Amino acid sequence: VTRELQVTSHSARQTEALAEKLADTFSTGDIVVLSGPLGSGKTVFVRGLARGRGISGDLVNSPSFTLVNEYPGKTPIYHFDFYRIKSVDELTEIGLDDYVGRDGLVVIEWGERVSDELPRPHYLVSFAIVGEEHREIAISVVPA
Ligand SMILES: Nc1ncnc2c1ncn2[C@@H]1O[C@H](COP(=O)(O)OP(=O)(O)OP(=O)(O)O)[C@@H](O)[C@H]1O
Ligand SMILES: [Mg+2]
Repeated sequence: VTRELQVTSHSARQTEALAEKLADTFSTGDIVVLSGPLGSGKTVFVRGLARGRGISGDLVNSPSFTLVNEYPGKTPIYHFDFYRIKSVDELTEIGLDDYVGRDGLVVIEWGERVSDELPRPHYLVSFAIVGEEHREIAISVVPA
């Protein structure tokens, strides 16, 4: 049985507030994969997650060049962006495995680029752009 939570957002503020509310449902060691086109709200969602876990949202920026940003907190957030990843070999170089199951929450933008290689189970948050500020957000679990 696939259970999915579907939410409509009408602004960046709403998306951030949604993530802030959901932030505590994720546990230390969980992996949250964010999937959706450019500008669909993935980074905005991470900003809300950070705020919901007591981390300043101002720290959150797209790690497109660095591949991973670390936001320190009671439980840190490791924020990955695989947009520029060219091969699955790079996953080993980045050391994704070293972050998984550690003391923090692992959040991955563009994780679908290497979806077969991602540790399971993980949460999948999918964003669809419907209108200028209208996003449909679906949250599900990809089982082990
Ligand atoms: N409902 C909405 N939810 C989230 N962002 C929205 C919404 N409506 C408009 N926006 C705007 O869309 C943009 C989303 O940017 P964001 O950086 O979060 O996208 P992204 O999915 O991370 O893109 P990228 O793939 O380039 O990393 C922001 O400029 C934001 O203000
Ligand atoms: Mg982004």
